[in-house]
Amino acid sequence: MPLVAGVDTSTQSCKIVVRDAETGALVRTGSAKHPDGTEVDPQHWWDAFQEAAAAAGGLADVAAISVGGQQHGMVTLDADGNVVRPALLWNDTRSAPSAEALISELGDGSREAGAQAWADAVGSVLVASLTVTKLRWLRDNEPENAARVAAVALPHDWLSWRIAGYGPAGDPTAPLGPQLDKLFTDRSDASGTGYYDAAVGEYRPDLLERALGRTDVVLPRVVGVAEAGAVAHPSIAGADLDPSTGSGTGCLIGPGAGDNAGASLGLGMTPGDIAISIGTSGVVSAVAPKRTADGTGAINGFADATGNALMLAVTLNAARVLDAAREVLDVDFDELAELALQAPPGSDGLVLVPYLEGERTPNRPDATGTLHGIRLATSTRSHLARAYIEGMLCGLADGLDALRAQGVAVERVMLIGGAAQSPAVQQIAPQVFGLPIGIPEPGEYVADGAARQAAWTLAAASAPGGADDVAAPAWSTTIATTLAADPKPVVREQYAAVRDLV
Ligand code: XUL
Repeated sequence: MPLVAGVDTSTQSCKIVVRDAETGALVRTGSAKHPDGTEVDPQHWWDAFQEAAAAAGGLADVAAISVGGQQHGMVTLDADGNVVRPALLWNDTRSAPSAEALISELGDGSREAGAQAWADAVGSVLVASLTVTKLRWLRDNEPENAARVAAVALPHDWLSWRIAGYGPAGDPTAPLGPQLDKLFTDRSDASGTGYYDAAVGEYRPDLLERALGRTDVVLPRVVGVAEAGAVAHPSIAGADLDPSTGSGTGCLIGPGAGDNAGASLGLGMTPGDIAISIGTSGVVSAVAPKRTADGTGAINGFADATGNALMLAVTLNAARVLDAAREVLDVDFDELAELALQAPPGSDGLVLVPYLEGERTPNRPDATGTLHGIRLATSTRSHLARAYIEGMLCGLADGLDALRAQGVAVERVMLIGGAAQSPAVQQIAPQVFGLPIGIPEPGEYVADGAARQAAWTLAAASAPGGADDVAAPAWSTTIATTLAADPKPVVREQYAAVRDLV
């Protein structure tokens, strides 16, 4: 049976899964860490990919590979394929003023009209996360760097390009050199740039020009849902595919995806499904037949990896809120859960609004967190632990409300990410959301989605009608635990009151 590899080049690490293309059975895995920070030299991603591939036993025997990755990061390349400056990541908020400037430049000059104009044009009101705002920041703050930019890519595009053997001139791990026109991407990640309209499938050079001041830069070619964007260099993946020549031919590289679209493919989401992901970012996502254009900015109308829309509400404060609680209380993950479950729902009025890193939804890049309702009776470790968890979940529940307000159907809710395994999160989430919640088996859903996409690309490559002839392979997702709805309205009511005070 052919094997396929799925990669997740995420904010924190590079993860690789090798799966059987037909059954989806997991064969091998590997991972390696990325450095911390919101500004990172992409070379670290390449080093981590190579380390993770070695840890996964190498990739010589895979027939296709695909890369999912953190969205939006601005990777700028010069004409020699070198990165112009470290990439600015999705969670870097320095371009918030640039976002506001770009908003006010579209429409009739009012913020409201500008916000709606961006939502209509590209599916999202601009926030600092989106690539287009980072390009404006570069133009205004580092004009010499901006002048050297010959291509703009996203983390997954750049890593796919490196896997194909391209890269900086003179780099021995990039035998094919700096061929910028070989960069490719997919609809899902392109839809998060702010200069691609997924509704019509076209870049918007006018919006790129608004940000960078010019359009003479290479943008990655956008390939179809199961179309191979390139062939991997045999020294990197697929060397064993052609044993007759001894050197091999390299394997297919699938289109890849933004991480949220990758997870949605990995979970097998269809319209009606909602995924709530508690990772470095908190994401509430839904697959929908068509994107909407939410002028309030609460919902990003991105594309998914199958030809549908992917509607997202994203918070900057998710798993790291729980990390902060552990730090404050000096406890581990299990002790935090134990403590939180000793306090009652609503924590007797102790409320944390967890905008610890500013916030994106709602758009408050400069906000700080607020702890409200401290009394003698609530000055306990367990009240504090519960307030942190409830506050983080309330931020995500606001995101689900925003999706509903856009007319998204909510039929099945799945909770994913490491924090979904916490007994306290599992007990409190059905209280905050007031819905039944399914917890899939723990897994690397972004890498799994990329592996599924690789299998789809492989099948499409040998089908007479290409991707139109074959559906994504039907690998199953097991819901390990189903939690019954347990609504406790007080939790969200008191949260909303404090959130709106601030
Ligand atoms: C989505 C977003 C985050 C990153 C995290 O818009 O900014 O979910 O993709 O990797």
